[in-house]
Amino acid sequence: MAVRSSTRIMKTNIVLLTAVATCSGLAGCTHLKYGFAKNPLEPTAETLSQGKDLYERHCSSCHGEGAAGDGNAGKGLPATPTNLVMAQRNWSDGVFHIRMIAKPKNGMPSFRETLLENERWRVVHYVRSLDTDEKR
Ligand code: HEC
Repeated sequence: MAVRSSTRIMKTNIVLLTAVATCSGLAGCTHLKYGFAKNPLEPTAETLSQGKDLYERHCSSCHGEGAAGDGNAGKGLPATPTNLVMAQRNWSDGVFHIRMIAKPKNGMPSFRETLLENERWRVVHYVRSLDTDEKR
């Protein structure tokens, strides 16, 4: 009995170790890097204004100025651009970030190469600042 359960624990450990070891070298492991991350930047006035600038240059054409998913360039794409103000309520910082660097999908480009990591974090802060619904 004791022997059997320790074998099971050993097996579990081996599976976990293999996952971590395989992961360290692969791009597919972005989830481990960002998934649990908190936004490393403070939402200062400067960060927010840089975020706004980046958002307006790279995102608002499709997602709309207020990030409600209603930009003109978003019309006629295979999917409607996400209402980011609503959606971000359910996303941790890390999850929001991952969604910006995932593979292109239905018209949503990947910002893995186009934006620097700290630029993406600025955009995360800026989009969150657009959520002004006091009632939540
Ligand atoms: C060319 C149009 C376009 C641009 C530019 C664009 N998006 Fe999107 N985005 C989309 C579309 C369309 C979707 C919906 C994709 C889907 O539902 O499959 C989307 C979805 C998303 C999602 C949700 C993805 C998911 O997995 O649910 C996030 C987050 C997002 N966009 C953020 C951004 C940010 C931040 C920028 C600017 C840095 C940006 N997008 C620029 C079109 C665009």
